[in-house]
Amino acid sequence: MTPTLGANYHGLKIPWIQDGPVRKRNEVFMAEEIGLFEAMFSQRAIRYIKPDPVPDELVRKVIDAGIRAPNGGNTQRWSFLVIKDLATKRWIQERYDTTGHPVHPDPTNTGMARSQSRNDAAAQHLAEHLHEVPVLILACLGGGGGASDISRGASIYPAVQNMLLAARGLGLASVLTTRPRRGFEEGIKKLLNIPDDVDTAAMLPLGYPAEGSHYGKTRRAPVEEVTFDEKWGQPWEAKS
Ligand SMILES: Cc1cc2nc3c(=O)[nH]c(=O)nc-3n(C[C@H](O)[C@H](O)[C@H](O)COP(=O)(O)O)c2cc1C
Repeated sequence: MTPTLGANYHGLKIPWIQDGPVRKRNEVFMAEEIGLFEAMFSQRAIRYIKPDPVPDELVRKVIDAGIRAPNGGNTQRWSFLVIKDLATKRWIQERYDTTGHPVHPDPTNTGMARSQSRNDAAAQHLAEHLHEVPVLILACLGGGGGASDISRGASIYPAVQNMLLAARGLGLASVLTTRPRRGFEEGIKKLLNIPDDVDTAAMLPLGYPAEGSHYGKTRRAPVEEVTFDEKWGQPWEAKS
């Protein structure tokens, strides 16, 4: 059977999605496709990342997934900086490492405590090794406005989530970080020539997962604990 050049979804040619048994160009992207729900349920933060380079085609694909996201009025006021230069990464790492993380509520059980201390150790590792990560993607949002405006953030974080899912699909490690915007927004904007009316929203380290580090099931409180029926406070559950 001749390999076809990409799948056809609702008349749209999606060149990177495998639609035949083998596709040479596709091989650079991924060995196999994973399902949407598998990706969503296993897209967790990976902070142990190999220094091995990531092909630009994959970086492009991650960003291309990002720009498919919903955004206010489809104004697409996003921009993405791809950072590979060691001196720039070192500059960022030095500041990232000394920007503290926000105080989170105390864990309410031993499972949560264990998971939190694992996360803290991984976050510390990333902070110390950020410059060794092959690619940093800085997701920015233009148009000015209040930096803490939740509606404004809604026009960039869906793109960031798409990028994390794309990384997951490609077997790449990543994690959403906001330390640059919390710790050294002014400095990083100056360093990277980011215009005044543009904010950095998130920085995604991107690389291959280090040995022993892998995607897996995310731990979250169940739907029933966070969902109400019609009015706040009334428990909701799916009726069969
Ligand atoms: C707004 C926001 C800021 C975050 N900042 C950081 C960060 O600075 N450093 C980091 O290692 N992880 C950061 N994270 C990742 C979270 O710690 C992670 O999503 C959370 O612990 C859940 O982890 P899991 O997806 O692996 O279960 C951030 C996530 C969000 C949503």
